[in-house]
Amino acid sequence: MISTRALTRDFVVSRTETVRAVRGISLDVEPGELVAVLGPNGAGKTTTLRMLTTLITPTSGTATVAGYDVTTQPSQVRRRIGYVGQGNGAGHTQRVGDELRGQGVIYGLDRRAAKQRADELLDALELRELAQRKVSELSGGQRRRLDVAMGLVHAPSLLFLDEPSTGLDPQNRANLWDHILRMREEHAMTIVLTTHYLDEADTMAERVVVVDHGEVIADDTASALKARLAGDRLALTVAPSNIARLTALAEKLPGAREVVAVGDELSVRVANGPAALPELIAAAQHNGVPIASAQVHRPTLDDVFLNLTGRSLREESNGKAA
Ligand SMILES: Nc1ncnc2c1ncn2[C@@H]1O[C@H](COP(=O)(O)OP(=O)(O)O)[C@@H](O)[C@H]1O
Ligand SMILES: [Mg+2]
Repeated sequence: MISTRALTRDFVVSRTETVRAVRGISLDVEPGELVAVLGPNGAGKTTTLRMLTTLITPTSGTATVAGYDVTTQPSQVRRRIGYVGQGNGAGHTQRVGDELRGQGVIYGLDRRAAKQRADELLDALELRELAQRKVSELSGGQRRRLDVAMGLVHAPSLLFLDEPSTGLDPQNRANLWDHILRMREEHAMTIVLTTHYLDEADTMAERVVVVDHGEVIADDTASALKARLAGDRLALTVAPSNIARLTALAEKLPGAREVVAVGDELSVRVANGPAALPELIAAAQHNGVPIASAQVHRPTLDDVFLNLTGRSLREESNGKAA
């Protein structure tokens, strides 16, 4: 559905300064995938999406989207994709229903088809009761649902969403996600979205592309990234007199890393915590070391980002929000 090679975009800011916003991104997305592009502010997420949606041209590199080249066949690309930008610009004084019908007409539907499509989307995104409201009167969550509906008017097989849930409270985020996932299931859509919410990328996307400074620094399922780049941490407590023996046993676990004993607590990093924990407990029992408590701490995508960059994405996002 998407294939990019060494996609690059420079912005000439002044005669002496050029910003390289995207630095050689190569990415393949298969039909039906739901891919989250995760990265801090300024990472190049929006610039990448704007190239893939033909709104700006690449400085170098290539990209095909839905089978067409973004540079030489932009109108074919546009016909097959939906794009919901970061903070979209639906007209303010228009009514919700009119806005959706108007969008259908822009995409070449006749008036009857446009009305029918608008009706479907009003129902699908729970906007029916708001159809007569002015866009300017909608809440943030309602507005974002309208944005998504606008992107779906021409039933695209590929949908781009730029930070669809930014600025929404947790309940509205969850609600928007319900709608996105349902639309995806019903219409077998491929979805590429950007987010700087770690938990969102973690729980919603099957695949997470982590970008930083205009480059892809990781690309895998969230669970694979966490297992490979961070690993689970086991934490066990024993009587202080037994900590040395437990430490020795932990060091023998296959793939054990970062074995650290502090007081009566032992911490060890392993690839698969739920599998390694019973193994370690059994070894302890076998050697007459009673375990007082045991826990598996699973890593977060923030641990992954920290591992890759030495910075915490959580802190950066929070810092920005604050
Ligand atoms: N039109 C532009 N002119 C100059 N610099 C830009 C422009 N658009 C984006 N940039 C710069 O490119 C980098 C990537 O921006 P962007 O793609 O918006 O990041 P993200 O969406 O990940 O926050 C940033 O450093 C940003 O300041
Ligand atoms: Mg952006």
